[in-house]
Parts: sequence; C-alpha cells; structure tokens
Amino acid sequence: MSLILAIESSCDETSVAVVKDGQTILSNIVASQVKSHMRFGGVVPEVASRHHVEQITQVTEMAVTQAKLNSINEVDAIAMTYGPGLVGALLIGVTAAKTLAMIYQKPLIAVNHIAGHIYANQLVKPLQFPLLALVVSGSHTDLVYMKEDGDFEVIGETQDDAVGEAYDKVGRLLDLPYPAGKYLDELAQTGEETYAVPRAMLHEDNLDFSFSGMKSAVMNLVHNANQRGETIDRANLAASFQQAVVDIVTTKTLKALAQHPEVKQFVLAGGVAANSAIRSALVDQIATHHPDVEVVIPPLNLCGDNAAMIGAAAEYLFEKKQFASLMTNAQPGLLL
Ligand code: KG4
Ligand code: ZN
Repeated sequence: MSLILAIESSCDETSVAVVKDGQTILSNIVASQVKSHMRFGGVVPEVASRHHVEQITQVTEMAVTQAKLNSINEVDAIAMTYGPGLVGALLIGVTAAKTLAMIYQKPLIAVNHIAGHIYANQLVKPLQFPLLALVVSGSHTDLVYMKEDGDFEVIGETQDDAVGEAYDKVGRLLDLPYPAGKYLDELAQTGEETYAVPRAMLHEDNLDFSFSGMKSAVMNLVHNANQRGETIDRANLAASFQQAVVDIVTTKTLKALAQHPEVKQFVLAGGVAANSAIRSALVDQIATHHPDVEVVIPPLNLCGDNAAMIGAAAEYLFEKKQFASLMTNAQPGLLL
C-alpha cells in the first residue's frame, strides 16, 4: 500500500500523476505536445525533448497540488518510464524522477512503458491472473500472457508495423491530421465496408500480426481510382480499413484465448484501445465465445500515454521492493 508520484515522458506527452495503492488516481496531469508535431506529420524528437524540459516542473507542481499533497515528501516512492521510447524524451522524465528521489530520499521505481499501458487497467478493476493483454499502440502490437504481476510473456507480436502506425499512415493517405487514428476512427463510423483490404496472417497458425501490407493496399486503391478518374469514397475506405483491423485483432485474440482456457481476464491496452470498433468488437466476441473471461477496457483518458498507468504498474514493484538505482538510464529499446 503506497502513494506513488509517477512521471511519463517517453513520446509527446509530459505527464505526472499521484496514484494510491496502484488503483486510485489522486491526480493525472497530461500536457500534450500534439499541436507542435501536427504540422510535421509526426513526432519530431528534438521538439519533443524541448517541450518536456519546458513542461516537466509545472506539470509536477500541478500533479502535487491536485493530489492535495503539501509536499512531495508525503509520497512513498517516485516512479518513471525508463523505456521504450524516444531517448531524448525519456531522459527528461528519468532525470526529473532521479532528482526528486535524491532530494526527497525516496525509493526510485523504473517502469516499462508497455507494462504501464497494461496496468492502466488496474485503475479500472483489480487485475486477475492468468490474464491476456492485447497491447495496441503507436509502436506495439502484442498479445501478452501474464501468470502474475510483472511476468510478461509475449505470445504474439507484429512482424512489421504496429497497428497505430498503420492507422497513422493510412490516415495520412486520406489527408487526415496527425496522429490520424482518432480521425480515421471517426471517419470510418460514417462509412461502410465497400473496398477490399487484405487481412494479412489472419488464418496462419500463430498469434502474430502484420499491418504493413494494408498501407500499400490502401495506397493502390487510391492510385488506381485516380488513374481511372474516379473519386475515392474516403469514409468507405476508412470503414473498410477499420473492419480489416478489427477482424485481425479479434481473430488473433480469440485464438489466444482458445489456446489459454485458464485465462480469467482480458485487458486491452495502448493508444489504439481508444478505437470504437476495436473496443465493441472485442467486448461482443469475447462475451460470445469466452463468457467466463472478464473483459476490462480502460476509459479513453487512460488509453493514451499518461503517468497514472506508470504509477499503477509501479505498485507491485514497490511491494516487492524492486527499486531502481540512481544510475538507471533511459532505455529507448527496452523490451517487456
Ligand atoms: O499508446 P500511444 O498513446 O503511444 C504509444 O505508446 O505509441 O498510442 C498512440 C497511437 C497513435 O498511433 C494514434 O493514432 C492511435 O494510438 N490512436 C488511435 C485512436 N486513438 C489513438 N488509433 C485508432 N483509433 C483511435 N480512436
Ligand atoms: Zn504509449
């Protein structure tokens, strides 16, 4: 049981949270840099680092104030994301966390960002093991089997692009702003499936994914229509792409659940967990085929990057006294 101040700065959100017992959010301030990166059509690492430096002190103060703490001294530990992510961005959060741990003489806890996404679900419901997590973010698409806290077995993963990356690339072809996932999701809801988008690896006997071919397929559809002088129905193309993604992620998730009948809980994680069609398809399909499995999906504000999820994941490390040294460095390529 603990009070943890957590810092997340792995990409383009500067976030600081205060979380109690890994379950209750006392504050979760997220300063997004999305507007600064939008005009470049993607995150510019140098710009991200500079924004983190400018924001981190103020965001920390806001998190402490909103949690109604008189001082950071009242927390039991300082947690930080130390990877994976952009090295320059990670370094700002890591340096801030190490500095606070040193000044206030608190234990330091190093959290994997992807573990954080999974533990965002602990802020909704207690995790029940064994569990299956589907991580769908801008850089990851993984099926993760967990026997207990901190035990992450990746049983399926993407062979190329992450699903969020595919959303962003296809969104760009459809002239949607960056990051396109949310806009493509909204556009898809106004259309219907009329275009043939391939579902790679769907029937292969494994739990892996492939999304890179989808971008080429959509590009060819747009190109061929242009050559024939036809206009593409953007909403229908978005709906066709989204349906292909939904089919792939639900099929692979059901396959994983069939292979692991002992699983008690399914949790969805990562920025793409905000997707309306993926959320509802997984709820429906798991209820139909595996009614005994509890489905937990984070609210929209906990799907994207935020520090509360890092505070949630830090709790079991705190309980096990798995503290990090003040020499801990950012690890941009950190694996689960
Ligand atoms: O987890 P996240 O915030 O950052 C990483 O750790 O990568 O995920 C960001 C990704 C972006 O690719 C964004 O386009 C996507 O999540 N995303 C969505 C939706 N909202 C965000 N993709 C599909 N549908 C959405 N509603
Ligand atoms: Zn993330």
